[in-house]
Amino acid sequence: MNLSNRISNLEESATLAMAAKARELKSQGVDVISLSLGEPDFKTPQYIQDGAKEAIDSGKYFAYPPVAGYQDLRVAIADKLNKENNIPYKAENIVVSNGAKQSIANVMYSLINPGDEVIIFSPYWVSYSAIVELTEGTSVFISGDISTDFKATAKQLEEAITPKTKALIFSSPCNPTGSVFTKAELEAIAEVVKKHDIIAIADEIYEHINYTDEHVSLASLPGMFERTVTVNGFAKGFAMTGWRVGYIGAPEWIAKGCTKMQGQITSANCSIAQRAALTALTGDATPTKEMAKEYLERRELVKGLLDEIPGVKTNVPQGAFYFFPDMSSYFGKSSGNRKIENASDLCIYILEEAHVSLVTGEAFGDANCVRLSYAASREDLVEALKRIKTALSKLS
Ligand SMILES: Cc1ncc(COP(=O)(O)O)c(C=O)c1O
Repeated sequence: MNLSNRISNLEESATLAMAAKARELKSQGVDVISLSLGEPDFKTPQYIQDGAKEAIDSGKYFAYPPVAGYQDLRVAIADKLNKENNIPYKAENIVVSNGAKQSIANVMYSLINPGDEVIIFSPYWVSYSAIVELTEGTSVFISGDISTDFKATAKQLEEAITPKTKALIFSSPCNPTGSVFTKAELEAIAEVVKKHDIIAIADEIYEHINYTDEHVSLASLPGMFERTVTVNGFAKGFAMTGWRVGYIGAPEWIAKGCTKMQGQITSANCSIAQRAALTALTGDATPTKEMAKEYLERRELVKGLLDEIPGVKTNVPQGAFYFFPDMSSYFGKSSGNRKIENASDLCIYILEEAHVSLVTGEAFGDANCVRLSYAASREDLVEALKRIKTALSKLS
């Protein structure tokens, strides 16, 4: 008896694996500071919690919701995407899912045949390539590095396209690098997408955590509505990771494919979480803005502390809540008989020596880097960076 090749070959999520390791150490009484998960440290704002309570108390939301989501929520999402993102979606273009992760899986399963190629802008969020693999598609990576603010270009995209290319996927603001594509960069990407008639999947889940003046949605650019799937959700901007509400805006034929897929796998997502999401969208978004402001202050704090550590090179993230510093100057160094060969070794060393959990950049497509989430209290960030600095100073 054995598992399918599909599951046996599937990599475990590196971010969840690191979080599990940190939890294990914590359960042994070790004071671990966890900077490995992409999870806001804020509570879900009160007005959203109240919306969920009202939904429960009304007694109205006990039955299976429609597979693509409640109609009023889909209308509210379409409305938001019209007003804030300048994309003319209607409710028929929206599918609500069990987190943006399921949204992306629905899209890939709806579009990708075995052997189709999906171009992934690297560094990338860990699950993109795993999901492509599950669909038996092939991931093709185009990479930026620290010298290009980790952004791959339209030229690289054009060079990577083959007759088998079906789609591309990127996140902006980006997990893990915090990079944000400018309008001009997206326009250049859009030209290539149109020329080669492929589908672009624009993951905009960090939209609300953007320190630049503008968030540009690819689907809003001329000729891109019919070729773009916009992915978004409530986890990051509204501190609702556990509620599991994500969504897509997409051409109707793709939205229908995703609804068909979801109808056979999970049905709609939880009724109460959907009511909470509707409250989030229709209520006063001040808490979302306040959280983004706090993330920006923490970015400044962490940038200052990272700059004090010799040999650490970093970009200045323009969004999301991660740093992705290049730590390669420590590779080849040792502490006692322990040698650091790569970013994974370094993360294990920092976890065991400094009791701070980070994630190796290998999981995100750049083996020189580590990912540090600053969705943690200022106090924890200061202490964690102090411990990391001390641990690194022991390497020679
Ligand atoms: C870039 C990116 N896309 C999608 C997701 C998935 O979000 P959700 O929690 O809504 O499934 C994450 C979560 O970390 C993410 O970082």
